[in-house]
Amino acid sequence: MTMSILELDDIQSGVLRPRPTPYAATYVLFRIDRRDGGRELIRRLNSVVASAAQPESPHRDTWVSVALSFQGLRALGVPQASLDSFPLQFQQGMAARARALGDVGESSPENWEKPLGSHDVHIVLTALAADEQHLEAVMQRATQAYRELSGITAIWRQDCHVRPNEKEAFGFRDGISHPAVEGSGIPSSNPNEEPLKAGEFVLGYPDEMGSSDSIPQPDILGRNGSYVAFRKLHQRVAEFRRYLQENSPNPEAEELLAAKMMGRWRSGAPLAKCPLHDDPQVGVDHASNNDFVFKNEDPIGYITPCGSHIRRMNPRDADIAGVARIHRMIRRGTSYGPELPDGVLDDDGVDRGLMFAFVGAHLGRQFEFVQSEWMNKSDFFGGAAGKDPVAGASDGTGNFDIPKKPIRKRLQGLPRFVVTRGGEYCFLPGLRALRWIADLRT
Ligand code: HEM
Repeated sequence: MTMSILELDDIQSGVLRPRPTPYAATYVLFRIDRRDGGRELIRRLNSVVASAAQPESPHRDTWVSVALSFQGLRALGVPQASLDSFPLQFQQGMAARARALGDVGESSPENWEKPLGSHDVHIVLTALAADEQHLEAVMQRATQAYRELSGITAIWRQDCHVRPNEKEAFGFRDGISHPAVEGSGIPSSNPNEEPLKAGEFVLGYPDEMGSSDSIPQPDILGRNGSYVAFRKLHQRVAEFRRYLQENSPNPEAEELLAAKMMGRWRSGAPLAKCPLHDDPQVGVDHASNNDFVFKNEDPIGYITPCGSHIRRMNPRDADIAGVARIHRMIRRGTSYGPELPDGVLDDDGVDRGLMFAFVGAHLGRQFEFVQSEWMNKSDFFGGAAGKDPVAGASDGTGNFDIPKKPIRKRLQGLPRFVVTRGGEYCFLPGLRALRWIADLRT
């Protein structure tokens, strides 16, 4: 199969380009009350969205992405035949898919933060800048421009930031492992993984199955677009810390247990390279911190448990039911909320966690599959009933097995450490598609 030439100048930068580090970001949701106002907003945003071909942002040092929900496309007057050409999951929206995603109990949509999960979420704007001061200055200018527009309402805002050393709220370095996309020029973080076909992430190109035909219509709307699944995930940091402490005889064992649950030490160093002790230098070394596979080196999971977060989310070459390559994703996660000071074991009642974003061309076989089959079940690697010990929808009855000789260690009754506060499926149109939407006359 020949390599596709990606039309980088038509793809939103946020799809392919890794984010700068460090950065501050904000998510703003808009409701479209009148079609003409919505179209005018899209027209204005179109001029500030960078393409993946541009190393610099057209809006000085701020990077903007624009995504639309199914309800948003409808509110903008996208014709019905075109709406019908989008995949079912997207048409239904994230809240309607709650059961498949494990969003039950406390995480179920009726407990989500309003207006998340409602039909009012139409446009999701993400802006990011090098620091909070730059971001705020841009947001103030944007707010003034927004006041001149009628027919749209900003209904929600969530600020996020990168924590020191890129650590998420549980204390693990994040943003290490990314798939390489053929034709993007952005190198793979894992030298053992062949770049994935562009059609896995951008619509209109051949994917790993050799198909490129099922894109939303008309072609100008679907081509060079992607889907994004964004989720606000609250993290129970104090509970996570207490759990580690209560299940470990000493602080060193506590760190090892944390690493077994994640598959990496908190520094980012993978167990696959540092099985017994953390090595912070490996954690930050891009040349080696993702240079590993599982099949021959660790088939049973004695080093990296098959049920750990990173091995579930990307089993690499391990023997599993199915093919890992067709379930890969680009992730753009950013923390929100203040840090829980080191050593605090009691919940302070403050909301903190991760604004998680999946980017890919297939909501069903990528995001939903990974979330339901790999995150919340264990059959794919032949494990006993259990869910992802870090981010799974545990209900206090699941197990987490740590393979060990002569006999495995089994943790029972895992609590839920991550609660879904809301989210939505959105479409990230290409730049020509944004202009097409702005110019609609229906
Ligand atoms: C609050 C919830 C979550 C936390 C704290 C979390 C944390 C982490 C951390 C620390 C890593 C290792 C660093 C890296 O490889 O970049 C990681 C990797 C990863 N996570 Fe999560 N994550 C969360 C939720 C999710 C969700 C919901 C998904 C997808 C449905 C996901 C998919 C992945 C994937 C695909 C990887 C890369 C695995 C690899 O290639 O080795 N994570 N996560």
